[in-house]
Amino acid sequence: MTRKRVAVLISGRGSNMAALIAAAKAPDYPAEIALVLSNVPGAGGLAIAESEGIATATIDSKAFPRDREGFERAMQAVLEAQRIDIVCLAGFMRILTPWFVGRWEGRMINIHPALLPAYKGLDTHARALADGAREHGATVHFVTPEMDEGEIILQEAVPVLPGDTAETLGARVLAVEHRIYPAALRMIATEYRLI
Ligand code: GAR
Repeated sequence: MTRKRVAVLISGRGSNMAALIAAAKAPDYPAEIALVLSNVPGAGGLAIAESEGIATATIDSKAFPRDREGFERAMQAVLEAQRIDIVCLAGFMRILTPWFVGRWEGRMINIHPALLPAYKGLDTHARALADGAREHGATVHFVTPEMDEGEIILQEAVPVLPGDTAETLGARVLAVEHRIYPAALRMIATEYRLI
């Protein structure tokens, strides 16, 4: 089995990244985490990746003011140098241009903390609570140029319970994220064909 080389793109603490790293330790897992790339210097997930012996890179998006594509070209160079097959966005808080998304069509996935197509964008838990939603959840989907729009790979619901706050509901959703992201990566690493 040739394992697909995966880059995980992060901006923060990297708990989904850590779940992917843990899953990829299974001998039959069809992907290896070859690179963790952050757009935020010192993002918490970088230290976790380093402690796991995984190559890391930081490309500070603030160093590219009003030059989104320049930032992405710098990322693309690192991804190509590392011979990456699949990109996983895991709390990567940058909107990507059609140019970059096009480079990775069918090979870039994202985890979103809501049951898409409900609650695209930010503050999903607070918005679900404000609406009186009975259920909420998480979604892994392919990335397309329109934010949080691409084809859904896996999705799982959690109940909204009486007394929930954004924090308690978010923690319930995060536990689901940590399960479905590795499962979704396993699916696409097994099935996708290079285009
Ligand atoms: C996760 O809940 C992820 O779903 C969310 O950010 C968090 C990152 O946490 N992503 C988005 O909101 C993307 N729009 P993590 O760094 O611990 O994985």
